[in-house]
Amino acid sequence: MHNIGWHHATVTRERREMLNGHRACAVWFTGLSGSGKSTLAHAVEERLHGMGCRTFVFDGDNVRHGLCSDLGFSIEDRSENIRRIAEMTSLFLDAGVIALCAFISPMRDDRQKVRALVGVDNFLEIHCDCPLKICEQRDVKGLYKKARAGLIKNYTGISSPYEAPEHPDLCLETGQEALQDCVGKVLDVLRERGVVS
Ligand code: PPS
Repeated sequence: MHNIGWHHATVTRERREMLNGHRACAVWFTGLSGSGKSTLAHAVEERLHGMGCRTFVFDGDNVRHGLCSDLGFSIEDRSENIRRIAEMTSLFLDAGVIALCAFISPMRDDRQKVRALVGVDNFLEIHCDCPLKICEQRDVKGLYKKARAGLIKNYTGISSPYEAPEHPDLCLETGQEALQDCVGKVLDVLRERGVVS
């Protein structure tokens, strides 16, 4: 990078974490559309917020309204989507926040790049493992129906791949486990990793 330096803050991430009383972390929810990523991320946020933690939820639909509004759903655009989100998440970690990120993020390699950018100790991969059949039955937004009818191209699980995590930090069967049970399991992992006490 030419002619560009890095301005070091005097108020560091560590000092913010000290003030917050918890570590910063990226909690990354991956899974098919309709697998419950956003619902779970918001429910975890409610619990953490109630404990006095600094949190923020990023989700696909919202980010694609602004920062990534120029991107579609080709494999290349999805990679760029995740790359931008990873950079943004990294800044939120510097800000001392627990970032709850709910993105299909279908490619293992893209998720691996997020892990590498934010650092292994700052990244928890949570697989919202809900069978396609159930996601399709739920079809909350009616998009599966459109994808089956050929009205939407490159739809994850229908006409675009989803690579499930091989070694997630946590795998939740979001098609059958109760929401609050899933929240409890995420909180347990956050405690085990020393993010919250
Ligand atoms: S990705 O793959 O991580 O870049 O996708 P993401 O940014 O999470 O966006 C997923 C939401 O976009 C809607 N949508 C689609 N999903 C998958 N494939 C196609 N082609 C598509 N077109 C629109 C869909 O509502 C996703 O929302 P969720 O919350 O995952 O159901």
